Amino acid sequence: MTLVDAFHRNIDYLRISVTDRCNLRCLYCVPQGELIKLKHQDILRYEEILRIARIAISLGIKKIRITGGEPLVRKGIISLIESISALSGLQDISITTNGVLLLENLKRLWNAGIRRLNISLDTMKREKYRHITGSDKFDAVWTSIEKAADMGFDPIKINIVAMKNVNDDEIEDFGSLSMTKPYHIRFIEYMPIGTKPSRLRPEYIPSVEIKKRLEALGELEAISRSALDGPAERYRFEGAKGEIGLISPMTNHFCKACNRLRLTAAGSLRPCLLSSREIDIRGPLRNGATDAELVEIFRKAVMMKPSSHGMLHEKSELFPGEMSSIGG
Ligand code: 5AD
Ligand code: SF4
Repeated sequence: MTLVDAFHRNIDYLRISVTDRCNLRCLYCVPQGELIKLKHQDILRYEEILRIARIAISLGIKKIRITGGEPLVRKGIISLIESISALSGLQDISITTNGVLLLENLKRLWNAGIRRLNISLDTMKREKYRHITGSDKFDAVWTSIEKAADMGFDPIKINIVAMKNVNDDEIEDFGSLSMTKPYHIRFIEYMPIGTKPSRLRPEYIPSVEIKKRLEALGELEAISRSALDGPAERYRFEGAKGEIGLISPMTNHFCKACNRLRLTAAGSLRPCLLSSREIDIRGPLRNGATDAELVEIFRKAVMMKPSSHGMLHEKSELFPGEMSSIGG
């Protein structure tokens, strides 16, 4: 079976946010004022996530990514990953983490079947890291990245939210890193997303500008994309060990090739990161829905996927939702 949306896109990638909690307080992510956290009972339990994942796979989902908040802060997360990995029909499981708790979890993640890591790291400067995230954890994150590479995790993707006047002085440094290390260095255009403005609302840096700056370091050869690839445009410097990815939610509507669906920590299916449209699956699930009924909810969610976020016409200048419970 396959999940195909109204615009003939094949949906084979599910991102599962397992918690809205995070052990960092990134200036551009955490909203101003009091952070409202989901109540314990409103967060999907592991057996619920596992049932939803199983149904998703029966519908043609081939790739699952575990996100948060910060997934490694949720107790028992490794067992959930193990159980999801063991579901037959799944081709790929990966995790997006801020890396703070990664070092002590690397071995268990490996044993649970994870080989691919996405690590969020917006700066290589310890002091700036402390400023952006509110925690002096740069060294911990960096150590875990190097250890992960030693252990054979591959690919290791480093996600950098590119922000004017915040980390635009480090574009070339990050670019160079892809020459000497096997990391995939991915620049993401900052998106103004949230229910309330975050403490810092930086300007995004268009990917074309990043590319131009990187090209001053050397020629970038394009890498062709493979079937389960996300929206990143991929490049490599000649002879480089790693690669460069440009992710352009703001300037280049990658929506045409969008293959994803999101499950929020509170148990809604969210067809598009940048649209408030969601459909509750937790309620029906807790009210005894059959598998067939849950399948219908998946089909409905997929049919609600907008063709592109340029067509959403949401009134607010903020894209609706909270990154920390949708999972990016
Ligand atoms: N715009 C772009 N990326 C963001 N992330 C968090 N908030 C934003 C935003 N407003 C990134 C995180 C992480 C990924 C899941 O999303 O840094 O790398
Ligand atoms: Fe930072 Fe990600 Fe945590 Fe938000 S969820 S505070 S971006 S680490």
